Amino acid sequence: MERLEVTETFAGISLPGHLHTQESLGFATTFPFRPSDVLIATYPKSGTTWMQEILTLLFSCGDILPAKTIPNWERAPWLEQTYFREALRDTATPRLITTHLPARVLGPALQRSKTKVIYVARNPKDVAVSFYHFHRLAKFLPDPGSFETFLTQFLEGTVHYGSWFDHVKGWLGQRHLLDILYVTYEELHQDLRGTAQRLSAFLGCALAPETLGALEQHCSFASMRDNAMANYTLIPPEIMDHSQGRFMRKGEVGDWHRHFTPQQNACFNRIYQEQMGDVELPMPWPI
Ligand code: A3P
Repeated sequence: MERLEVTETFAGISLPGHLHTQESLGFATTFPFRPSDVLIATYPKSGTTWMQEILTLLFSCGDILPAKTIPNWERAPWLEQTYFREALRDTATPRLITTHLPARVLGPALQRSKTKVIYVARNPKDVAVSFYHFHRLAKFLPDPGSFETFLTQFLEGTVHYGSWFDHVKGWLGQRHLLDILYVTYEELHQDLRGTAQRLSAFLGCALAPETLGALEQHCSFASMRDNAMANYTLIPPEIMDHSQGRFMRKGEVGDWHRHFTPQQNACFNRIYQEQMGDVELPMPWPI
């Protein structure tokens, strides 16, 4: 299957031109956020789809019908992608919106609007592995080549969506300026219930025991893997070639152990220390 080799450059970051145009990116940066909006912000492969599903269940008070009948890109439309104007306008209040854009682009508008932001981060080693596999099926991304080649680009920040380090530091840097909650993929794994309770407290929405039960069941990896409204199997093969792998691939913490050589790990650790050594908030993953 051929690749859709179009790249857009925006704010110093390369992005897949199939999904983004200068116009859609301009639309995103001037988007009139409302105080009632909830924005999910992530670097790719950090648990975006999982958070979309969890918040869908929170807002539906555990009713699984919306999650089973409406594709996630309509429930939580992407701010910066060309296809979602209508969905962004029509989605119910509170509007659930998703983005991979960096904080330096969206920060000023979010500060003005008092929109609530949920930032999801994941161990960057697992992000790199997941992103590598995703490049193989996502035809709107460049061919990743070998894992070694891809990892070098990931560490240099030359992959699409830019540097993981800059993304995380940028959004962490907004903690005194925005109404923002930081969540990690690893916390979701370890304690989905507890994290859902933290989310409901942050969003000020009630969380009945039945809602928690439904959420836990529906947002498990196995349920989401089989839900066509969340697993991206509705996307045509020219855009996502599922013969090359699944979007819902493994859903594990620590899969990087099966991919990294000791040399790659040492190199990663060195760059991580250089980039993240002075970051105030401790990250919960062992590096
Ligand atoms: P893997 O490729 O490691 O399996 P995003 O939605 O940000 O693109 O992230 C996708 C990653 O989140 C994939 O990781 C996917 O399997 C994982 N994921 C999605 N839903 C999950 C769930 N319910 N439980 C665990 N992992 C999940």
